[in-house]
Amino acid sequence: MSRAKIVVCRDMGEKAMGLLTASDHEVVVFPGSPDPPPRSWVLENIKGAAGICVMMADKANQELLDAAGPSLKVVSTFSVGHDHIDVNALQARDVRLGYTPDVLNDAVADLTVMLALMAMRRAKEGMDIVHKSQWPQTHWSPFLLTGPSFSRPKLTLGFLGFGRISHSVLSRFLSFTLPASHPDAPKVIYTSSHRRPEQDSIDAEYTKRFGVEVKWVEKEELARESDVLIVLCNLNESTKGIVGKEFLSNMKETAVLVNTARGAVVDSHALAEALDQGKLFAAGVDVVDGEPNVKADHPLVKQPRCVVLPHVGSATWDSREGMALLCAKNVLAGVQGEELPAELK
Ligand code: DGY
Repeated sequence: MSRAKIVVCRDMGEKAMGLLTASDHEVVVFPGSPDPPPRSWVLENIKGAAGICVMMADKANQELLDAAGPSLKVVSTFSVGHDHIDVNALQARDVRLGYTPDVLNDAVADLTVMLALMAMRRAKEGMDIVHKSQWPQTHWSPFLLTGPSFSRPKLTLGFLGFGRISHSVLSRFLSFTLPASHPDAPKVIYTSSHRRPEQDSIDAEYTKRFGVEVKWVEKEELARESDVLIVLCNLNESTKGIVGKEFLSNMKETAVLVNTARGAVVDSHALAEALDQGKLFAAGVDVVDGEPNVKADHPLVKQPRCVVLPHVGSATWDSREGMALLCAKNVLAGVQGEELPAELK
């Protein structure tokens, strides 16, 4: 096996970096980590490289492929999302794409549940009151900061995108809801890119697996019926801005929305407006369109019923280590012409 050049856009931690440096390959790491490398650094260093480890801030597109030249065999992203990658351009050049599915499911699912609970239980308003020394002088009061709960009869859990992470979220939710055997048990509706011919049997499988009714619906029904709506789909041309003014105007006034997918799936100004106008009860978002340029005066950040986090869904020690190792293993396998542990085909 010949010595290849591998570019790493950010220090990925001791174990993953150890794996890379223990290989016989030349490893070029951006020295300014944890900041993202300037584009000029990437374009300069990718010349003649066989593999590159990128993160969400690093676009893997035609420009990068042209700068790399014919030596490039693999792009390995330290993420499960791949909207920063021009998959078609990679495919046209026969460059393989490694990503990091599964290892972050638990972390993102936990955070999704946390945001749903924080939104329902008005955690941001409660914390604001305490932080501003405004603890109500009524002491305890019967209706202070009340909100919806998971144990509501006939709760409808909605999912925009129903992949692996959504399944992990649903399993967690079902431990908070009325049991499946209850006459008012919750039901689950979801939508994904299109209804498949075999959708009824897929839904029957899901229903068996989760013990509650699970059904594919059109996005209008998803908006209308969901009490808790979880956004967990890929960002692409068909999902960009899908949760916009019209979608939000169809939602229940008592509903909560959580976005742990990509900011651009939800029009954040429309979401802030819907919350301002009481068209939606509350929201929790880990991602915001236009991030990382989200300041304290952003309408969602200012909205008392919206919990905003800075894209930390997978930020547990275990998950990030798993992602780093998978990213390193993918790039090594790619430059060595072996099967990638996790390849996006
Ligand atoms: C991903 O991997 O795509 C996530 O957004 C990181 O948490």
